[in-house]
Amino acid sequence: MTAHSMIVAQISDCHVSLEPWRGVADTIGGLKRAIASINAFVPRISLVLVSGDLAAAGTADEYRVARELLSSLVPPFCLIPGNHDLRAPMTSAFPELFDAGLHPDFLCHDRLVGGTRFLGLDTIIENQSGGELCGRRLEWLENKLAQQPDRDTVIVMHHPPFRTGLEIIDRHPFGGAGEFERIVAARPNVRGVWCGHAHRMMSTRCAGIPAYVAPSTGFQLPLDLTGEVARTFNQEPPGYLVHAIAEDAIVTYPQLVDRFQEFPLRPGH
Ligand SMILES: [Fe+2]
Ligand SMILES: [Fe+2]
Repeated sequence: MTAHSMIVAQISDCHVSLEPWRGVADTIGGLKRAIASINAFVPRISLVLVSGDLAAAGTADEYRVARELLSSLVPPFCLIPGNHDLRAPMTSAFPELFDAGLHPDFLCHDRLVGGTRFLGLDTIIENQSGGELCGRRLEWLENKLAQQPDRDTVIVMHHPPFRTGLEIIDRHPFGGAGEFERIVAARPNVRGVWCGHAHRMMSTRCAGIPAYVAPSTGFQLPLDLTGEVARTFNQEPPGYLVHAIAEDAIVTYPQLVDRFQEFPLRPGH
């Protein structure tokens, strides 16, 4: 493997809920397992990106529990909202993470860690499933990218700005996708577009840039490519993404939160 210079974890769609989600999924337990796995990871993880849908309904109580859980993370973390989040209670629960000077109306972030810049975008339309980058957010992104044109940069956003193949996700088109592609395609220093929302790990290219969706730490969407709208979630194990960032490449690994039986290999397999 290429020597890495930094490892970043991405957790997503935690849907922290005081009761089991839809009476079934233990989202608090899933997030706890993900945090334990990240804290135990060797080599050390330098940053945890939470790519939205932190809470299930966006209540103050859910964010209080989410804060308690995330405060047990050893690495630093940063947040963006997803469609299940609400900006005001999320900001109240994590006031130190949201700098109104960065953007007065949207929960974006601009974080430099280990030489890589992580631009977190707020893509939500509150109380709607679909997302967008409106003119103001696109302008913010374009200006941010113009400020540091040579800096290795990763864009983190909840809604994938591309078709996922899962109809339940794609039936809500992402507003501003064409403009977003135009902006990032002009910036060869953008090394990744890392998303959530689809509750299933996937990879593709967006504007020629490697793009990923992280699995959920709570529950997953079945892989249904029939074009039908999914009617179920499932309880595949929670997971997250491990992004190993080196100067010459970023390698991304899906990681399940549970440990599995190990057995010895022989030299040469
Ligand atoms: Fe979600
Ligand atoms: Fe979502």
